[in-house]
Formats: sequence, C-alpha cells, structure tokens
Amino acid sequence: MDGVLLEEWTAVSQAAVLRSGRFTAALSGGETPVSFYERLAASGCDLPWDKTHVFQVDERLVPIYHPDSNMRLIETKLLRHVPIPQANIHAVPVGRELQAAARAYEKEIRAFFGLEESGWPRFDLILLGLGRDGHTASLFPASEGLRETSRLAVAVERPMPDHHRVTLTLPVLDAAHVVVFMVSGEDKASALQAVIEGPGEALPAALVRPRDGRSVFLADKEAAKLLTSPPKLTRVLP
Ligand code: 6PG
Repeated sequence: MDGVLLEEWTAVSQAAVLRSGRFTAALSGGETPVSFYERLAASGCDLPWDKTHVFQVDERLVPIYHPDSNMRLIETKLLRHVPIPQANIHAVPVGRELQAAARAYEKEIRAFFGLEESGWPRFDLILLGLGRDGHTASLFPASEGLRETSRLAVAVERPMPDHHRVTLTLPVLDAAHVVVFMVSGEDKASALQAVIEGPGEALPAALVRPRDGRSVFLADKEAAKLLTSPPKLTRVLP
C-alpha cells in the first residue's frame, strides 16, 4: 500500500507544482498512515518539499507532545526528516478553546488559499483513513459536522475518553483534486464493504465524493476481504 501511495504522492505533487507552483496536502492521523509517512520520509529528499504545504485533516484538542496528537505523529514520522520549511506546516492551533481553534484553523486555510468569506480550497491531495464505524477525518456517523455547508473546519465534541477535535468538513474533502483512503486490517472489512458496495449512504466515508477530482481506496487484502467486486479505483494490495 505504501509503495502505491508513494507513487501517487510523487505524481500528484509534481503535477501540482507544474500547474500552480506549489503542492498542498492534508494529512490524517491514526495508525494506518504511519508506515507510509516513514517511507515518504526515507525517500523524500527528491520531492519538492520547499513547495509543499502540509495541512491537517483533523486534530484532537491536545498539546502537540500528547501521544494522541496527530501533528505529533505527522511531525515525528515525516516532517522532521524532510527539508520542508516550518512556514509550510499548517497545524490546527490547539492551544485554545475548541470553537476558537476551529475558527482559527479555518482562517489560516482561507488566508493561504486566498479565499475571503466564501469558496472552497482545492487541496491537491487529501489523505484519509476509515474507522470501523465508517467515520473518516473526524466526521462521525450522524454527527452535526456532516451537515456543514459553509465552514471549512468545525469543532467536534467527543465523549471521554476521546478528545474533542477539529476537522475539515465534507465540502472541503469534496473540493480536492485527489482523495486517497488508506484502509488496512480485517476489522475495517465490513465498513469498507458498506462504503464501497452499500448500504453505506449514511456512513461518513461514503459521503465523500470529490466534485471535480477523484477518490481512490487503497486497501490491504484483510480490509478488502468482503468486497465482491472491487471497483476500478480500489487497489487491493498485499
Ligand atoms: C484520526 C482520524 C481518523 C482515522 C481513522 C482510522 O484518528 O486521527 O481522525 O479518521 O483516520 O479512525 O484510524 P486508524 O488508521 O488508526 O485505523
């Protein structure tokens, strides 16, 4: 899975730099992307890091040194090993109250993409995971954030022992050029089947449909074991 994603990252980043002079990626936390981040870090120096801007798909409202911090993971597995300028790292500002953090993150994205009050940023690549309950980013089944139609980032209150979070919204995911879901392990098999083959309409991951881009599912054999007919854009990997 990591090798295929590395090819995708390389191709998308090069095309984005040719098209617009920069490459914008929004990255998830979780277990699944860890080995990809390590691989990207190990192979990274030929990539256009000085023109790469890294954002977060979602973040828990915890300090960066906290074990559950997504930025901590992204930083330790990837960013500290590659020549990316500090100014190109766009983290969710966690050192404030939840709603304020979501608003500040939205403001940062709007400023970067030159959007005033309205309009959607077009990330070149958004890397997503899939939860056993069908959640993606921090968009959980039946949650309020799923109905968002104007905000880029929203606050998500979570019951203990989880942490409150900030997440990009569905319209932002749908505005991307490329959305990649990484799905690994048998415990994701029924969620993946529901998302791809239905009935998954109500599942957050099934609601991600890039308007003018493409979405790709990268799944290992265990996660893909319930799929009857993997669609063209699902790559099942050893
Ligand atoms: C996070 C993400 C979440 C994640 C899925 C899959 O945890 O930071 O919000 O959407 O991508 O829960 O997580 P795993 O990769 O750990 O299975």
